[in-house]
Amino acid sequence: MSTYTEDNRKVTTRRLQEMKLRGEKISMLTAYDFSMASLIDQAGMDVILVGDSASNVMVGNNTTLPITLDEMIFMARSVVNATKRALVVVDMPFGTVAGNPLNSLENAIRMMKETGADALKIEGGEEIIGDIRKIVGAGIPVMGHLGLMPQSINKYGTYNVRAKDSAESDKLKRDVKLLESVGCFGLVLEKIPTQLAKEVTETTTMPTIGIGGGKYTDGQVLVMQDMLGINNNFSPKFLRRYADLHKVIIDAVQHYIKDVKENDFPNEQESY
Ligand code: KIV
Repeated sequence: MSTYTEDNRKVTTRRLQEMKLRGEKISMLTAYDFSMASLIDQAGMDVILVGDSASNVMVGNNTTLPITLDEMIFMARSVVNATKRALVVVDMPFGTVAGNPLNSLENAIRMMKETGADALKIEGGEEIIGDIRKIVGAGIPVMGHLGLMPQSINKYGTYNVRAKDSAESDKLKRDVKLLESVGCFGLVLEKIPTQLAKEVTETTTMPTIGIGGGKYTDGQVLVMQDMLGINNNFSPKFLRRYADLHKVIIDAVQHYIKDVKENDFPNEQESY
């Protein structure tokens, strides 16, 4: 275990709140399968997000829109099976929380029942606040997601930094208040100016988790494939790479191919 996680109790939404209050930063990383989730949990991550970025990094789609509820359920269940300590949060995919509270609640209940996840993450503010109120009211913890919302890429047209002008930053601040008022336990702030993320973090009771939101949020999240350098063709300014697994994996696989071709593998010790 890392030195930051001597406390091996299961992370809860309440503990994230306590971490915000005492100024302890919250670590969050995505995972989509049993093996990687198990490693990330053993390393001491606070929150594992089964993000709908799975649509890009696991399925190879260009956007997060095509991934389905069934596909997210499959991945989330494998992450839950691997995780002992981290809080597991699952993204509700595009179209499953879309302005029809009863329908959204049904989808949210399915996600919780069939995966065993601890909480859900939902992109959006005012437009779907009735849906989120209904889901939280049913006892399901919800993390909001504002700023750049990849599920709305067809509306924005780009993945550029959001809320740079006052109209959009005022709307974001109103949405933060709404999400807080319906009982969201946390909030992802994606790709917004550092000063805006700082102001939101200082004025909301919800722990904020940034991705491209600067250093003042209560925690940080990255996509696992990006931070481990499995993906080496995605280099936004906010990304820090902690490994070059692209090279490690290509080298290892090429070594294996060579050994097979040269009849070096298996040797005597590796045979029955
Ligand atoms: O889907 C995802 O991985 C996310 C993070 C980038 C916050 O929403």
